[in-house]
Amino acid sequence: MNFAVLASGNGSNLQAIINACRKGKVRAKLAAVISDRSQAFALERARKAKVPCVLPLDPKGFQDREDFDRRLVEILAENKVDFVVLAGFMRILSPYFIQSFRDRILNIHPALLPAFKGGHAIADALAYGVKVTGVTVHFVDEEVDHGPIILQEAVAIRPKDTAETLAFRIHKVEHRLYPAAIDLFARGKLRLAGRVVRIG
Ligand code: GAR
Repeated sequence: MNFAVLASGNGSNLQAIINACRKGKVRAKLAAVISDRSQAFALERARKAKVPCVLPLDPKGFQDREDFDRRLVEILAENKVDFVVLAGFMRILSPYFIQSFRDRILNIHPALLPAFKGGHAIADALAYGVKVTGVTVHFVDEEVDHGPIILQEAVAIRPKDTAETLAFRIHKVEHRLYPAAIDLFARGKLRLAGRVVRIG
């Protein structure tokens, strides 16, 4: 199976995925890395890893969200991509994109969904005062941070945590959990029963 990673920022999850592919822990081929931000460090990481297609795609060049997503789907088809992995991709995908890759889009979120949806999950969990947060890998559907949950792991919040110290521990969990989830999907080990994901 071929997959693409879409990323907007640092790309530490992308790096963990690249490393896991190299070690044979993700049994699928990373065929493309695309970013909506030309300066994203994720692109640098992808070039260094010699991913076959590495592309910035600037939303400014498109009329609207769907127009951008149509081009994205074209590029993914050209690269024979079977499934899509969002790794810090900070754009909402259109229904057109979701339909094009129905049940074949994975996302990682730095909280225990359905708690703390949105773009500031780590800061939001700290500000709310929860004692436990975590990481969720889930399928993407039309609603933001909503689709069927594949894997979750809790991370305890310590009394002296700052956004930085908590993010550090959350990222460590992400870098282990995401490659594991991608490998499960690539090997056909995930089955959907309504919104419940059965593994094995
Ligand atoms: C990750 O922590 C990921 O969970 C989060 O963005 C970060 C990207 O880091 N995603 C979201 O908040 C999605 N709502 P990275 O670029 O270093 O992989």
